[in-house]
Amino acid sequence: MLRLFRATNFRCLESVELEFGERFNLIHGANASGKTSLLEALAYLGRGKSFRGASTANLTRHGAAEFLLFGELEQGGRRKGMGVRNGREGLEVRVGGEPAASAAALAESLPLQVIDPEVHNLVAGGPELRRRFLDWIAFHVEHEHLAIWRRFRRVLKQRNAALRSKASALTIRSWNAEFLELALELDGSRRKVFAQSLESLLAHGTVLLGTELSFEYRPGWAMEKSLPETLESGLERDLALGATQAGPHRADIKIGYDERQARKLVSRGQQKLLASAMILAATQTAQAALERPLLLLLDDPAAELDRDSIGRLMSAVSALGCQVVATSLDPDALNFPEPPVMFHVEHGEITRLSQ
Ligand SMILES: Nc1ncnc2c1ncn2[C@@H]1O[C@H](COP(=O)(O)OP(=O)(O)O)[C@@H](O)[C@H]1O
Ligand SMILES: [Mg+2]
Repeated sequence: MLRLFRATNFRCLESVELEFGERFNLIHGANASGKTSLLEALAYLGRGKSFRGASTANLTRHGAAEFLLFGELEQGGRRKGMGVRNGREGLEVRVGGEPAASAAALAESLPLQVIDPEVHNLVAGGPELRRRFLDWIAFHVEHEHLAIWRRFRRVLKQRNAALRSKASALTIRSWNAEFLELALELDGSRRKVFAQSLESLLAHGTVLLGTELSFEYRPGWAMEKSLPETLESGLERDLALGATQAGPHRADIKIGYDERQARKLVSRGQQKLLASAMILAATQTAQAALERPLLLLLDDPAAELDRDSIGRLMSAVSALGCQVVATSLDPDALNFPEPPVMFHVEHGEITRLSQ
C-alpha cells in the first residue's frame, strides 16, 4: 500500500506531499487545478512512464530541469521507499534504497491500474492496447513474461529486417526456430492469464453493463493452423509485405455482445463501462496472484457516466479491496462505501481536508 507520496516539478505540481489512506482517497478541485497531474505522477512512479504517452519534457514543470517522485510503501508492517528522477540524464530509478536497472522494478513494487477518460480506447481502439492489457496481467502473474516478451520483440525485428532486405528463404527460415519458441511461450502465458481472468471479466462485464458478454483470446494467427505451418505458408506474403504477418504481436481479445448491446456500445459511456470492467478484472487477477491489494487510480470516473453507472462502477471498485485514489470536480459525485480521505487541489497545491 502507498502511504506517502511526494512530487517535485511534475507538470503543474511544484512540490506536494500527501499521506494516503489505506482504502479510499479522493482528490477534488476545479478544472485545471492539478488533479490529473497528481494521478499521472502516481502512475509514473509505478510505471516509469506516462499513461497518456506524454514526453518527459511535457511532464517536467515549465522552467524546471527535472522532476522527482517519491513514494513510501507499507507492506506487512514494513516500509519501503521508491523513487524516480527524470531530467537531462534520463530516467533514474531507486527501489528500497538501491538503484534499479529498469522501470520494471517500479511496476513490481507498485502495481497499479488506471481508469481515466481515455479508457474506452481499450474497447474502441486497436488491438495494441488489449495486448498490453493481457501482458500487464502476465507480467504480474508469470515471472518470465517480460523477459520472453523482450526477446520475442528482438527476434521479430530481426526477422522483419531480413524480410525487408529480401533475404533468401533460407535466411528467413533461420530465424524461425527462435521466433517460434518465444512466440509459443508468450502465447502460453497470455493464454494462461486470460483463462485466469475470464471469470472476473465475465462477472464485471455483466455487473457493469447489465448484460452478458463474451471474451475470446486470439493468439495472432488462425486457430485452424499451427504457427509453424502458418509461418511456412505465409512466407511469400511476409516477403511481399516486408513484415511477419502472424504471431503473438498480432494477438487480440475479441469481445462479443448481442445486437442490442452492440448498438449501445457506440456510446462512449458504455465503452467506458466495458473497458472499466476489463481493468477491474485485470486488477482482481493480479491481486489474487500477488496476494496484496493493488493501487487503482480513477481519473474523473464520473465523466460520461450517468448516476446509476457511476454507482455500479464504484461498488465494483469497492468490492475489489484495493487502494483507490480518485479525482473529481465535485467532492460528492462518487459513492464510496466509507468516507474517503479527502484532499483539495488548487493551482497545483494540495491540502488534506480529513484526518
Ligand atoms: N509541464 C507543465 N508545467 C506546468 N504546468 C503544466 C504542465 N503540464 C500541464 N500543466 C498545467 O497544469 C494544470 C493542471 O492540469 P491538470 O492536472 O490536467 O488539471 P485537472 O485534471 O485538475 O483539470 C493545467 O493548467 C496545465 O496547463
Ligand atoms: Mg483532469
